[in-house]
Amino acid sequence: HQLVERLKIKKESISIANKDRILPFTGSMAELFKILGVPDADINEDLKKILGRYKEAFILMGEVGNRIVCICILFSKRKGFTGEDNFKIIRFLATVLNTFLNLKYSFAKTKKEEKRNFVMLKILSSLSFNEDLTSFLKKAFEELKTIWGENLESLGYGFPKEDFVEATVINKEGVSFYKFPVKVGIMGRAIENSRVEIASDVSKDPDYFKVSNTIRSEIIIPIFIENKLYSVIEVGFNKEYIVGEEDRPFFEEIGRIIALSMSNLNLYRNLKESYLETIITLVNTIELKDPYTKEHSQRVASLSLLIAEKMGLSDERKEKLMYASLLHDIGKIAVKGSILNKNGSLTEEEYEEVKKHTILGATLVKGISYLRGVSDIIRHHHERWDGKGYPDGLKNGEICLEARILAVADSFDAMISDRPYRKAFSFEHALNEIKKNIGTQFAPDVAKVFLSIPLEEIKKAVKTQPFLPLFKKYLS
Ligand SMILES: [Fe+2]
Ligand SMILES: [Fe+2]
Repeated sequence: HQLVERLKIKKESISIANKDRILPFTGSMAELFKILGVPDADINEDLKKILGRYKEAFILMGEVGNRIVCICILFSKRKGFTGEDNFKIIRFLATVLNTFLNLKYSFAKTKKEEKRNFVMLKILSSLSFNEDLTSFLKKAFEELKTIWGENLESLGYGFPKEDFVEATVINKEGVSFYKFPVKVGIMGRAIENSRVEIASDVSKDPDYFKVSNTIRSEIIIPIFIENKLYSVIEVGFNKEYIVGEEDRPFFEEIGRIIALSMSNLNLYRNLKESYLETIITLVNTIELKDPYTKEHSQRVASLSLLIAEKMGLSDERKEKLMYASLLHDIGKIAVKGSILNKNGSLTEEEYEEVKKHTILGATLVKGISYLRGVSDIIRHHHERWDGKGYPDGLKNGEICLEARILAVADSFDAMISDRPYRKAFSFEHALNEIKKNIGTQFAPDVAKVFLSIPLEEIKKAVKTQPFLPLFKKYLS
């Protein structure tokens, strides 16, 4: 803020900045400050040293009424930081920044505008990553009611599907679903003109497509993402002339906030899904080394999730357990194929070699920040309740719950699969083995839950095909 004040940075002085008020920068950081008009004398040696570490940056301009009031710079030591994917996330951040600034420097001349800014802020804050649409709509409906009171009749949200818009509408009675032809009505006009349409009196609007008897005035906000129609929002009122042209900026801002949050949500979701797909491909590749373990990790993940479900683990813990289960044997990549496929018992040396897969797997995963917390579960999937496992000989509660679950799921799947040195056990036999080893190999809490699961459910868990849609459900 001080920088802006002192240097009188104006919008025009940063000519490369785009309409999103974001400037991705890939030159040297000293150059960046030159662009911003900071004199050399102001960049002392210490600052130079610090800046020297950074490779790329995003500059966000906080703008209020065409005047830059603050600058926010995100530095990164990583090359490629200012790429396309991050750009979209930063664009979301820029909108949030600008919305907050506009509220802070609010031009609210009247109490009414002040209230609207507050409602906008509350709607913005209820749009979070994990929000489902209906609960968001309900919150937004309540917020809008603080402005229009009982005159607010309905709030709808629809997605285009071929020639129709499938909409969810909230009103005083609850939630209902509709299907509207995309080209008709005020909605059709809003989509056609890509702008907010305000009908102060629907009875006088020749385009009005009557759905309800109670709507007297209506606003339609089309949401476009990357020039493609993404969704449509409808706000209905039970009184004529309660809204008019003067409300346009408010509804346009709401549309803009929702468009950005939604595109961000999609981006985040796609990123997570492709990450999961990559991991499964990686695991499948490793399992090729040992044909006996084909799809072992996916079956183990499915079983782990089944147990976690019965034990009531939180969504976050289930997601971690899923990744740990999928990756638990990834360390086997370094174990010789001749040992993995050996048709007979292992020598002591060979066994020591196999044991290393726990430590190696944990180390491989540790470097990935996204998989924080997964590494320890992998490291301890061969620990035993009585402390006789490996690699650390932990016992009882020293072994985390996720690793205890993984150990049961892993052993069970190993027993019901063919191995080079023996045929697969029956499900009943394998379950009996688990029962026999409660309190020695297996954690009593987990094993008891597992044994209480109906056999049909266990069979279904290992036979799910393909597994991917099941795993996607566990992405938070
Ligand atoms: Fe293992
Ligand atoms: Fe395993």
